[in-house]
Parts: sequence; C-alpha cells; structure tokens
Amino acid sequence: MSKGKTENKVQVCIDRDFSISKVDERIFGSFIEHLGRAVYEGIYQPGNKFADKNGYRKDVMKLIQEIGVPIVRYPGGNFVSALNWEDTVGPKKDRPRRIELAWGVVETNDFGLSEFMDWCKKVGTKPMYAVNLGTRGIEDAKNVVEYCNIKGGTKYSDLRIKHGDKDPYGIKLWCLGNEMDGPWQMGHMTAEEYGLKAGRAGHIMKLVDPTIETVACGSSGLTMPTFGQWERTVLENCYDTTDYLSLHQYYGNAENDTPNFLANSVAMDQFISQVISICDYVKAVKRSKKTINLSFDEWNVWYHSNEQDKKLEKWCEHPHQLEDVYNFEDALLVGSMLITMLRHADRVKIACLAQLVNVIAPIMTSDTGAWRQTIFYPYMEASLYGRGEVLNTVVKVPTYESKHGDAPYVDCVVVADDEHDAVTLFAVNKNLEEDFDLTCDLRQFADYKVVSHSVLTHKDLKAVNTEENPDNVKPVDFTKGSKVTKGILNSKLPAKSWNVIRLAK
Ligand code: AHR
Repeated sequence: MSKGKTENKVQVCIDRDFSISKVDERIFGSFIEHLGRAVYEGIYQPGNKFADKNGYRKDVMKLIQEIGVPIVRYPGGNFVSALNWEDTVGPKKDRPRRIELAWGVVETNDFGLSEFMDWCKKVGTKPMYAVNLGTRGIEDAKNVVEYCNIKGGTKYSDLRIKHGDKDPYGIKLWCLGNEMDGPWQMGHMTAEEYGLKAGRAGHIMKLVDPTIETVACGSSGLTMPTFGQWERTVLENCYDTTDYLSLHQYYGNAENDTPNFLANSVAMDQFISQVISICDYVKAVKRSKKTINLSFDEWNVWYHSNEQDKKLEKWCEHPHQLEDVYNFEDALLVGSMLITMLRHADRVKIACLAQLVNVIAPIMTSDTGAWRQTIFYPYMEASLYGRGEVLNTVVKVPTYESKHGDAPYVDCVVVADDEHDAVTLFAVNKNLEEDFDLTCDLRQFADYKVVSHSVLTHKDLKAVNTEENPDNVKPVDFTKGSKVTKGILNSKLPAKSWNVIRLAK
C-alpha cells in the first residue's frame, strides 16, 4: 500500500495462477443462539401467520435462503455453558422450563435439538453444534454425539429413535464449549484446564464418530488479557484431537468516529495473522504434520443495544435482547470484514456472522413481517458471489492513519470461479468524501465482460432499515460504473461504498 495524500486511485494486481485458496463455503456461516428473540419469535413462532405447521417462520426461511447460509452454529454462545442437552429432546410436554443463567431469562425448551435439525433441513443449511464444557464434562459430550450420529442399537441412539428421529443427524462440526477464557462464562477455566478438557472431549467424541471435526475455543476477543498465551496453552494440550481454533470479535462505534471504526478491518486482519502464527508455532514445537485452521465463529458489529439491554428485567421469556439496529456504516465494516476473511481463505475455513435473526442480526422480525437490516446485503452478496478461488489480491492504494495503524482507503479482494467462468471483485471505499478510480489488469481473463456492478451507499452514514422503511439502505445497480477496455477493468468506487463487480465470459 502506498502512503500519504495522493490521487484517489486504486490499482488492483492479480495473477490467475496466484491463488490463496479455494473458498471453503463454510466461511459464510451464521449463528443461532437461544438468546433474546433469535429462536422464539425469530425462526420459530407457532401461531404466527407466517409459520408453517411446525411453527417455523417461512418468511425468515426465505430470507436465509436468499443469503445461502451454508452452516448455522447452535445452540450458543454463552447459553451452551450451563445447558443440559437432554432437556432439549423428547416429547415437548416433558421438557423442563429452566432458568437460563447466561442471559437471565427463562428457557422453555419448546424448540430444541430435534427441531433445529429439522429446521436446518428445511432451510437447506448444515448444523455446527456446540457442547457444554462449562458446567458439564466429557461424558455428556460423548453422549450427545452418540444421540446425534450413531445409527441405532445403543442407549442414546435408540433414545433418538424413540423420540421420533429414525435417521442419525450426522452432525459433522462440533464446538468444544464456548469462550471458556471469559470470566463471565459459566465454568470458565484456565487455558491449561480447558486445553486438557477440550483434548479429552475431542478424543472421546471422535471415538464415537471418527468422521466429525472439532473446534477448540480460542480467545473470546483480541483484547482479552490472556490472548496469545491462551491459544498457545490450549493448543499444546489438545492439538492432536482438534481441527480448528475459534476466534470471536465484535466491533462498535460508540465514539462516533467512523474512520477509526472502518479501520477495524486492519485490526481483524492482524488478529487473524496473529492466531495463525500461534497455531503454527505449536505445530513447529510439536513437530506435527497437521495444520490447525481457523473458525471465526463469532464476528459482527455489536454495540447499539448495550444500554437498552441494561434495563432488562430478569427471568422473562425471549425478551428483545441484543437487538442492534444496524446503520449504513455498519454495513461498510461488515463488507470489509468479509473481504478480510476472504483474503485469509487459506486458513479461515469457517466463519459465523453472529447472529442470524433478531439478535445482532441481518434479519429482523415482528409479528407482522421480516426485513433485511443494512448488513444483510454485504453478507448476502459475499455468500452468493464469493465462491471459487481467492486470488492473491495486491491493492495499491493510499492509506490513512488510524488507531489500528495505517488503514487502506480501499479494501479489496478478487475471487475467480473457473467453473462458471466468472470473476468477482469486492471492494469497500472507506473514504467518506471522495470517489476512487479502480483499475485491474484482467488480460488473463480474455473475453470477460462486466456483468454487473452493484453498489451499497447512502448519503447518511447512520441510515437504517426498519419494518416501515425496509428499503432505505439497499444495493443499487451501478453497472455503468465499470468497464473492461482492452482487458483492463476501470471502475468507479463511490465515496463510502460497498461494491460487487461481477465479470464473466
Ligand atoms: O453472540 C452473543 C454472545 O457473544 C455469545 O453468546 C458469546 O459467545 C459472545 O460473548
């Protein structure tokens, strides 16, 4: 990146043969926790006019299908750390109501594991299931894998069949607890205690089903005082039975400082690189042939609802909780975060936008409808068009000073989908006042033409979508803003904008 005040030009350099990695589609995953109105009144609302015969909201399903969410992490989050999974299965009339300590509410268990699996099938997504390693142990982790993945003829698999689910669920991806470094987490541990427990849990779970993959908890954020040491110690103790290490990070703009807020993609990039270094350090020390990849299984903007949530009364059922109303600048950062993860596609194999419905979510519901928040759009467009090979994308662009270091005015990545003879360039222009002119030499992609250039921009950084005004912030066609001339792409990136430029033969 070049530095200082220069012309508003960005030069994007790629080579068709210089691929970072094929995108693992699970990078476009999301998350549903038993929290607030994510499940109840979100994906499940029996009696609502949009609900099907099982109580699943069809309008919400349609929006999730629009995005094409390949995996959904469930059932928590903090919720999982005191969960008895047995409460969530079997006849609904026998399921206990419980005080839910993570979020100070009452959990009815009306929607549980079986309903979630059924819902996943109907939506067309795959489960990523978290076991409780907070208040419970490796025996319970073993039992739930048996309940889910063994065909039949054993205690827990027969219990599942008795509960009406003849076929095993075949859950392939398992989280070994949640944010066990956090003092707020029920049953939180030291890195050594957790590493040993995660290693033992992964071992016994894989004895039940050797085809599963496991995700150990990394730090619950970059600013945790134990960050770094935590990752190292955890991995030293569970390396052989673990496949992925998790990262969680949320950003906010409480100071109303948009340039620094948008520069958080730099912080995210550093966070990912640091975790990769720690994974590879442990690999080297262990002389291991195995590489631990990353699961960025909680990422988003989260701060708008913080004050409101302090006023919540305890022990009610599914209150409005963590209901951030996202504005336009949040969508820009979400776009930059997606670009950042794509640029690390060689190591970030799983990522979950936290969360999916009502709770810090791209989709909101009321009794009368469902609508798309601003952040819905970059997430959807990246998921739809970010499939293929991520090319090593060198971006020559001026930078600005931020509290995270020099931040490029333009974040960009190029994904080539050879199967469909398509190339997509994603770019965020973080300059709030000025357009940028982008060029990219595409001569290796002979005969590719601009199919579309979609732009998300708004004059008001704080503009939001609501049920009454759901289309206030949404992408518009800007195909006139891009052109290929003699193999060179020339595009205009409007000031403060998310851009998706699609080319094909
Ligand atoms: O996504 C909301 C919460 O954020 C999750 O429950 C927890 O894992 C994280 O702290």
